[in-house]
Amino acid sequence: MSKPKVLIAYPVPQEVLDFVDEHCDMRVWDFSKPATPEYLGDALKDVEGIVNLGMIVNDELLDLAPNLKVISNITVGYNNYDLDALKRRGVIGTNSPGVLDETVADFVIALMLSTARRIPTLDSFVKAKKWTKADNSNLFGRDVNHATLGLIGMGRIGEKVAKRAKLGFDMDVYYYNRNRKEDVEKELGVVYKPMDELLAVSDFVVTMTPLTPETTHLLGEREFNLMKDGAYVINTSRGPVIDEKALIKALESGKLAGAGLDVYEMEPTSPDNPLLKMDNVVTTPHIAAGTHETFKNLGWTAARSMVEFLETGTSKNIVPELR
Ligand code: GLV
Repeated sequence: MSKPKVLIAYPVPQEVLDFVDEHCDMRVWDFSKPATPEYLGDALKDVEGIVNLGMIVNDELLDLAPNLKVISNITVGYNNYDLDALKRRGVIGTNSPGVLDETVADFVIALMLSTARRIPTLDSFVKAKKWTKADNSNLFGRDVNHATLGLIGMGRIGEKVAKRAKLGFDMDVYYYNRNRKEDVEKELGVVYKPMDELLAVSDFVVTMTPLTPETTHLLGEREFNLMKDGAYVINTSRGPVIDEKALIKALESGKLAGAGLDVYEMEPTSPDNPLLKMDNVVTTPHIAAGTHETFKNLGWTAARSMVEFLETGTSKNIVPELR
């Protein structure tokens, strides 16, 4: 039997490529070009499986891949999938859950610390050779330890953040989630609050939800107004969960003390984005999961899901809406 043709559209370790190559007729994308319809041409013509990161999987892309059976996201988020288009064509999408939780949770804490303790500002200060014996209290930050953390979303990553915040930093941790999680409350000592109440008491508000129509602009002008004066916002989930214009206003007015952002409404960010000029905003390039260890595991997970689906017609990582 001939092996199914597949495309690896995002770099994965050689051992993952070797695994896919054993099971499939594999082509590896030329990563100097983006894997978008403009460049893909007929590269998807006979392809039955794709491993990708962040490809916009809509009718335009699916038209180029009439034989496609499964597309596997290296990421856990799958807002790049047009689920209706996939459903209509009977194409399956998978994601890679459970792999990056600790790595992203580490990064949330890192952004919280970097923002409140102003690490990039301090780093630039020393490297600019401005450090003298003079009073430097103008460089002081704010405590993370014993502060109040409000987590919006309590999924796998939220739990890992809560654990770090409670055990490592003695924070008071509140969370809001569509469903209350009493087991997590018991285990970690976190407390459920309706969203508006959570916003009103938190020193740090961290968004931890997937991007869906319900979570788009979950935090906007109304929500920022409800927050404590001088609070911080941290976002490593998806940019559009926050109304960026409203965030910029809340930072400009001094209502918020700062923000730590890994994700943006437009990625890469426009060079004119006012956030890039703000000293109290720590910016990173959508890289919260970006460690060598985690990306190796993500690559394995996506590749295994694709091969498993092509060989057995199912995979445990099919996204819930397509099961
Ligand atoms: C990263 O952004 C992911 O969704 O895994």
